Formats: sequence, C-alpha cells, structure tokens
Amino acid sequence: MRFGLFGTGPWAHLTHAPGLAAHPDVELVGVWGRNPDKAAALADEYGARAYPTVDGLIADVDAVAVALPPDVQAPIALAAARAGRHLLLDKPVAFTEAEADEIAAAVADGHLASTVFFTRRFIPEIQEFIEQARRTDGWVEARVDHVGSIYEEGNPFGASPWRRESGGLWDVGPHAVALVLPVLGPVAEVTAMTGPRDMTHLLLRHASEAISTLTLSVGAPPAAARQEAVFAGKAGVVTVPVTRWEPVEPFGRMVDELIAAAGGGPRPQLDVRFGAEVTAVLAAAEEAATTGRTVRLAR
Ligand SMILES: NC(=O)c1ccc[n+]([C@@H]2O[C@H](COP(=O)([O-])OP(=O)(O)OC[C@H]3O[C@@H](n4cnc5c(N)ncnc54)[C@H](OP(=O)(O)O)[C@@H]3O)[C@@H](O)[C@H]2O)c1
Repeated sequence: MRFGLFGTGPWAHLTHAPGLAAHPDVELVGVWGRNPDKAAALADEYGARAYPTVDGLIADVDAVAVALPPDVQAPIALAAARAGRHLLLDKPVAFTEAEADEIAAAVADGHLASTVFFTRRFIPEIQEFIEQARRTDGWVEARVDHVGSIYEEGNPFGASPWRRESGGLWDVGPHAVALVLPVLGPVAEVTAMTGPRDMTHLLLRHASEAISTLTLSVGAPPAAARQEAVFAGKAGVVTVPVTRWEPVEPFGRMVDELIAAAGGGPRPQLDVRFGAEVTAVLAAAEEAATTGRTVRLAR
C-alpha cells in the first residue's frame, strides 16, 4: 500500500514514519507538513519525497497516515476519503461529532478501509483482555485513570498548543473511552467536572446501565501520574493489563488490519466509525463540563 504521511511533529517522528517504513507491505511515498524544511528532513530520513501541497500527496497514494492536531487532521481525512484513499488516522478523529461523522460517511460511501490509532487496543495482551471481558456478563462499573504529566522538561508532547488548550479530555480521553466502549457498550449520558491541573472527571452511563468513571489529565503533578483501569461486576474486579509502551509494534498491527480491510478482509473494530463514537462521547463531556449539565447522546 502506497502511503502519504501528513505531519512532521513528535508523533510522526516517533511512530508513524518508523512504523510505515518498517512495514513490509508499505511504501512511504511522501511527507507533507506545513513547514517545508521539516517535511524535507523527515522525508529524507526515510527515502521519501516532501510534497508541497496536501492535494498533491493525496493524489499520489493509496492511503494517508495522519499525525496532526485533530482540527487539522479532520479536513485532510475528509479530502482523502472523498478522493478514494484509505485512512489511517490518529486519535481523536476530530473535535466535533459532525466532522467525525462526515469522515465516516465518506469512508462508507467510498467503500474504503479506515483505522484509528487507539494505541493500547492494538497491544495483544489488551486485545485478549477486551475479548474476554466482552464475553463476560454482569459488569456494573469501570474505572479508568489516565493521568499524565506532559509539561515536564524533555517531554515531546508538552509543546503542542492544542494539548494546552484541550487538555487530557481530548488527548488521553480517547484512549480511556476506547477501553470502556467495547465492554460496557454505547454511552447514553455523560456528566463531567474539571478540577485543578487539567484534572477532568467523567461519569458515563452506558446503555447497558453500567457506569464508568474516567479521570483524565495531561497536566497532573508528576507524582500523581498513573494509568490504571478496572472493570467490576459479577465476575469480580479485574484489572486491565499494564503493558510496555512501544508504539511502533501496535502501529504495525494497525497497518496490517488496514491493508487486510482494503483487500476485502474484515472491517477493523477501531475504524473511523468507532472513532466518531469516541468523539461524540468526548464532545458531550466537554459540553457537560462547561454547562454543568448531564448530556444525553443521540447516537
Ligand atoms: N495514539 C497515540 O498514542 C498518540 C500519541 C501521541 C500523539 N498522538 C496523536 O498524534 C497527533 C500528532 O501529535 P504530536 O504529538 O505530533 O503533536 P501535534 O501538536 O498534535 O502535531 C504536531 C504537528 O502538527 C503540525 N501542526 C500544528 N498546527 C498545525 C496547523 N494549524 N496546520 C498544519 N500543521 C499543523 C506541526 O507542525 P510544525 O512542526 O510546523 O509546528 C507538527 O507537524 C495528534 O492527533 C495526537 O493526538 C497519538
């Protein structure tokens, strides 16, 4: 599959570019970034070409991989899908439900393949945990704490303006929502409150009646940073496995799924339609935190 990479920031360097270059069935054709020097440097590193325009790179490839802020990713993803290109997106798909749904509709109309990089969901131990939890009845609750501390010196993600503005809700929230949705089912209602240091607390009532509690931040004091997730119910209290964070491996598994789907194989579970469902929950949480009201989801 011939890929174009959009983005030249930390995540493109750490994961997308090496992940695409390492995949035996991928040709990394070109790189686009708003800064031509950065695009040229990243393209050179991988023997690809820097493209001066978004449309030029879309025209030359079968699929796009996007490592850009959500509001920059969304229009590029839509243009690529409308041009018939498969989509490998990063989380969150977009900041608004309408934009995410529009991309999902373009993918469906074009009979295209799509995946969204909910990193942990492509790690085998976590995939096995989720499959087992799906087959288990009687969950009544889940708790996910995804609390980071990215504004410490040397952290590559702390310089990103949208993370400072939109915080942990939109940065790590997608990972937390993507863990609870497959086990507890669709979300019916959301309430949320924000505290100091970007601490955002969400209560999600799932259609199954189970409730999940998500604690999200990227600006917590370093000593308070943690990643923990448990489900509780008739089966007891079970903890989601803690795994190594080596994103290039799960990225490769996501590329496998995209290529298989493009060739007529199964639709990836973590496709843009799922990504739009996650965006809908996060947008509802933002509204709930801002207004102080419980927000119902109409999906
Ligand atoms: N799946 C995961 O576990 C995971 C982990 C990390 C990141 N991500 C996702 O990957 C994406 C990229 O993250 P990142 O860490 O690299 O930081 P980022 O701040 O989201 O993206 C940086 C890149 O976006 C470019 N950019 C910023 N504003 C732009 C604009 N208005 N128009 C065009 N380009 C713009 C920057 O260009 P300049 O260099 O010219 O400023 C740089 O190339 C995000 O969506 C993030 O959520 C996912």
